[in-house]
Amino acid sequence: MKVLKLSLIVAAVAFLSYGTSYAFHSGGVAECVGCHNMHEPAGEYLLIGTDQSSTCLSCHENAADTGPSSYHISTAEASLGAGLAPKQRTPGGDFGWLKKSYTMTIRGTTSTEAGETHGHNIVAADKNYVEDATNTTAPGGSYPANKLACISCHDMHGKYRRLNGGAIATTGAPIIGSGSYATSLDPAAGEAVGVYRLLGGIGYTNSLIAAAGVSFAVNPPAAVAPSSYNRTESSTYTRVAYGKGMSRWCATCHPDMHTDSGGLKHSVDENLGSTIANNYNTYVKSGDATGSSASSYSSLVPFETNSTDYTALKAIVTSTPNAGPASSNQVMCLSCHRAHASGFMEMTRWNNEGEFMTYTSLWPGTDTTPSVPQFARGRLGAETLAAYNDIPASKFASYQRVYCNKCHVQD
Ligand code: HEC
Ligand code: HEC
Ligand code: HEC
Ligand code: HEC
Ligand code: HEC
Ligand code: HEC
Repeated sequence: MKVLKLSLIVAAVAFLSYGTSYAFHSGGVAECVGCHNMHEPAGEYLLIGTDQSSTCLSCHENAADTGPSSYHISTAEASLGAGLAPKQRTPGGDFGWLKKSYTMTIRGTTSTEAGETHGHNIVAADKNYVEDATNTTAPGGSYPANKLACISCHDMHGKYRRLNGGAIATTGAPIIGSGSYATSLDPAAGEAVGVYRLLGGIGYTNSLIAAAGVSFAVNPPAAVAPSSYNRTESSTYTRVAYGKGMSRWCATCHPDMHTDSGGLKHSVDENLGSTIANNYNTYVKSGDATGSSASSYSSLVPFETNSTDYTALKAIVTSTPNAGPASSNQVMCLSCHRAHASGFMEMTRWNNEGEFMTYTSLWPGTDTTPSVPQFARGRLGAETLAAYNDIPASKFASYQRVYCNKCHVQD
């Protein structure tokens, strides 16, 4: 009996200490020697990796990982052979898609969909990520592709913080922990939490951003993720409550891709309005408009609530994760794109190359029957499924048209 109790205590202590050692950044600057090595560095700035992004990926990619696994956002190249899809399922997307090129023959013409079109090509020599050879600068902007790294977007030292009261600053109160989650503490007076995903805010810079000549003029977006954010979506969607500011933040490097009101580019930061909100809420799938707002949410088409109220954002994640938009909610860059990479060209959340997402009730693949090359696009059905974060084809129509229809219902 005593022995049993002791082993239970040992197990409990082991679990707790694992829980503590699991945190690293804790919303701010992490343990210095997690990234720097004082006497035997591998790269500049005493970094443990050959370059900035390799340093991050020394932890954020793990070759032994069977995935999806918590903070991992990249699948090791050895696991990405022909027919194998990346393993992580985070909202930002697995950078491993950048290494998946597909060859297809459509109507007699053979072409390749290059992996580099699947997202942000961060330069990380140790993990064999190289700069984008086609986009030499950010489309709609000037940020050079050869200076793109994790720290182009994330503050390596996590100085940006959300103070009690909501103001964003780089000092003024100590950071007590991550501010990214529904489970994050609310900062009391004299306290702060980290900004969403340690993203850079006003004035953020480092050697790469300085060389790029880009200045950060906006603060990080307000958003809240569930604490379990890297998980299969085979049964339920992973709901991030996006609040405000994502599109302007992306426009730091893509200024000409941004507009508030129609014109020559798709609007962002514009209210959905009652017609589009109603479309979204009633749309179930092609040919089925019987949905209701309580259960209409799809992680393939997220939207912003246009609010920086963290109590309300947390409540969405914990209490109403399946609820659709109100008419005052807004379309943003991440309504159509992911932030890191996706299984599709231009880093979109669903395949826009072809009119059907599903075909004969299946995710298209070179191995499905019938196999239609222009929908399979050189992938196995299992790779297409993975690109949709494992959402089963049965959630969609037998012949599902592209997901622009979630808002526009032209199908
Ligand atoms: C998550 C990884 C990470 C952690 C943790 C980290 N650093 Fe850094 N640090 C970097 C990177 C990446 C650079 C290179 C930035 C650049 O390219 O300009 C850097 C650069 C620096 C520099 C030189 C440039 C500058 O900003 O002055 C100093 C000094 C520095 N770090 C100190 C620290 C100290 C002290 C700590 C611990 C309190 C720490 N770092 C923790 C990643 C980290
Ligand atoms: C020593 C391992 C290690 C290194 C190196 C490392 N990370 Fe992390 N990172 C973690 C762990 C563990 C977590 C989850 C726990 C946490 O957030 O403290 C995490 C979480 C994160 C998060 C989510 C944090 C939040 O509060 O939402 C971001 C963003 C991130 N890391 C970016 C980076 C970047 C950028 C670098 C390189 C400059 C880097 N990490 C280097 C281990 C590491
Ligand atoms: C172009 C900007 C950009 C670059 C480059 C970038 N990130 Fe991110 N990252 C983001 C944004 C924005 C989010 C929030 C995504 C969301 O919630 O939809 C994010 C989310 C994350 C998360 C939380 C998990 C997730 O995917 O949602 C981690 C961890 C992270 N980033 C680490 C990294 C590391 C490590 C690198 C480099 C290998 C990197 N990021 C490069 C913008 C970037
Ligand atoms: C720090 C600068 C920076 C920020 C911030 C940034 N990007 Fe980019 N983005 C780039 C660069 C550089 C490229 C070109 C290199 C590439 O395509 O890999 C690029 C390419 C892209 C592409 C084209 C990808 C392809 O291969 O066709 C899309 C789409 C994109 N960004 C969307 C976004 C979105 C959405 C956000 C906000 C979540 C964002 N970017 C934030 C620098 C940035
Ligand atoms: C309504 C969906 C939607 C929204 C919102 C959206 N995009 Fe796109 N974006 C796309 C699609 C689809 C493509 C690929 C086809 C095309 O270029 O028209 C694309 C292409 C891009 C490209 C690649 C262009 C090139 O020349 O290679 C970039 C960069 C980009 N988007 C950035 C952004 C940024 C930044 C925002 C927010 C300010 C944004 N997008 C908002 C759907 C969207
Ligand atoms: C999150 C919802 C949402 C998604 C997803 C979405 N749109 Fe839109 N779209 C809007 C809103 C909001 C407007 C602006 C209000 C309006 O025109 O009614 C708009 C406007 C438009 C317009 C009219 C532009 C103008 O200047 O009149 C076109 C065309 C369009 N979208 C095409 C697309 C395509 C193509 C896709 C998929 C790649 C897409 N949209 C995805 C919400 C969305």
